[in-house]
Amino acid sequence: MTKPAFTDEPTDAADNTKGSRGPRAKVAAVIAVDGPAASGKGTIARALARHFDLPHMDTGMLYRAVALNLWRWGGDPAHEFEALKACDVAAVDPEDPELRSEVVGGIASRVSAYPAVRAALLERQREFAAQPGGAVLDGRDIGTVIAPDADAKLFVTASVEVRAKRRLAELAARGMSVHLEDVLIDIKARDDRDSEREVAPLARARDADLLDTSGMSADEAIAAAIKLVEARLAGN
Ligand code: CDP
Repeated sequence: MTKPAFTDEPTDAADNTKGSRGPRAKVAAVIAVDGPAASGKGTIARALARHFDLPHMDTGMLYRAVALNLWRWGGDPAHEFEALKACDVAAVDPEDPELRSEVVGGIASRVSAYPAVRAALLERQREFAAQPGGAVLDGRDIGTVIAPDADAKLFVTASVEVRAKRRLAELAARGMSVHLEDVLIDIKARDDRDSEREVAPLARARDADLLDTSGMSADEAIAAAIKLVEARLAGN
């Protein structure tokens, strides 16, 4: 069976979830990780998937794939109908480096506000979350809309300044030179759009554990996330 696009299957590779210190623990749980841009949710979700030996879906990549389709085809993100026509993401190469660009991220945050776009991507996310062995999904509305009955939910956040610096470092690592001030403006605009849209806004589910990673290294954030999830799975 081919794996669904924009997902990672557990691998037999050595556990590199630094901070987990110990063998991987197979659990059949659904873990929801939500949070704003550059909060560290993707890193944390991937590490949780490795630690608990679960498949992982980065749902932001689905919205980015729609955005990339639309952009390449010359469609207008201001029109819901045009965005909807870009929702067939099967042809998008999950390894396409453009998926991670700021331009595509910006378009993704605009088209993701359209109810028709969210509806078009809903089923594949719900199915992924409902697979028998459990799964980790990260995004904006996993704990609230996609998997409201998840076994463990994290809402990962960090101050806007810290997030802008992280995004700047990510972009620099990919050879892109941008100004901190511009990244800060972009992240604030993205936060506003994600939190203020009417359908599935970015919001902490009532039963989600809050993890503020502002003062944490990636290793520390991963260790804290594993601890929170383990406590939830143990029923605490
Ligand atoms: O982490 P970053 O904000 O750069 O991007 P992402 O997680 O890859 O998501 C890209 C955009 O898709 C976000 O700005 C959100 O607007 C949107 N998104 C969403 O609406 N719902 C999700 N479950 C995931 C992403």
